Amino acid sequence: AQVDKSGYKHFMAKEIAEQPTVLQGALAHYINADATGVALPAPGLDFTKIERMTLVACGTAFYACMVAKYWFEQIARIPVEVDVASEFRYREPPVTPGTVALFVSQSGETADTLAALRYMQGKASKIVSVVNVPESSIARESDLALPILAGTEIGVASTKAFTCQLTTLAILALNAAHARGQMDDATLAKHLADLRSLPGILNLALGIEDKVSSIAAELSEARDILFLGRGAMYPLAHEGALKLKEISYIHAEAYASGELKHGPIALVDPHVPVIVMAPRDALFDKTVSNMQEVMARGGKVLLITDQKGATEASEGVWNTIIMPEIDPLLAPILYAVPAQLLAYHTAVAKGTDVDQPRNLAKSVTVE
Ligand code: G6P
Repeated sequence: AQVDKSGYKHFMAKEIAEQPTVLQGALAHYINADATGVALPAPGLDFTKIERMTLVACGTAFYACMVAKYWFEQIARIPVEVDVASEFRYREPPVTPGTVALFVSQSGETADTLAALRYMQGKASKIVSVVNVPESSIARESDLALPILAGTEIGVASTKAFTCQLTTLAILALNAAHARGQMDDATLAKHLADLRSLPGILNLALGIEDKVSSIAAELSEARDILFLGRGAMYPLAHEGALKLKEISYIHAEAYASGELKHGPIALVDPHVPVIVMAPRDALFDKTVSNMQEVMARGGKVLLITDQKGATEASEGVWNTIIMPEIDPLLAPILYAVPAQLLAYHTAVAKGTDVDQPRNLAKSVTVE
């Protein structure tokens, strides 16, 4: 069926706004209505036998893998390796027994990701894919293909596919944690309840849009922008920088907050906005101290945090975006929204072609 913009100025705007709805569908697909446990995922995936996971993808899907590494390691205690497909496929890494290979791809047709998958055939104990297009090559060549149910995504810059990839991966990690005896029933039930409230929280989060668009008007004047984050916010910083580069053509870089002093701090001056993604979680104080180092050098900080974080740490920052409170485990899914909206409104302010940015393709099917 033909997909239209349904009154939005761009497909990207529509796809950002659609996230609460598509996520609801994905959650309904993967979680039992009675909350007794996780319905899915994985026929034939015995998490107790997994020794190691290798997660491979490109672009935004790669950042979803980077987030998933934190989840699988922290809650399921499975060692995880992540790599971009173009590196992985030629590195020819040795594969130890009990390795599950997991590929994430919106289109399911990305040439490098497909080649990496083929490399793992006959080596990994199982090939799993997390895809948006169920009849794609990557889905077909996997032992198990998990749909993310985001619906057709038209904007070249991936948005709703990212949050649906993350949601599917979070459910998989929770399932693994529970199966491996790392998480009791009550904790699992709590996380599932939190997951179920995610569409409502995302909806609330979309209310930051007016604020974001006024901030974006100023960001659009910048030549370089830095994104900082720690833990699972580090991949989100990458995703924020990628989105911004892709559609606004502003040079943006992401760093792990703790790496700031090993280089990027040399770039800090009043003309380089520094966007800090930091919900009030266990690592908040560490990130705030990095943020203060930026401000001490005249840096212009945009802090993206929750109300608690803002109360504690917004003194001296240039601007603050306040996000709803959320279970720290699920924060990466929620913080995709400001990353997307900042890029979108900065691009709109610059007048670039949001849905068809120059030099980029929706799906890279040749090497
Ligand atoms: C291209 C797109 C990105 C996407 C990446 C991976 O670069 O512009 O939005 O994240 O490919 O695509 P895939 O379909 O494998 O997720």
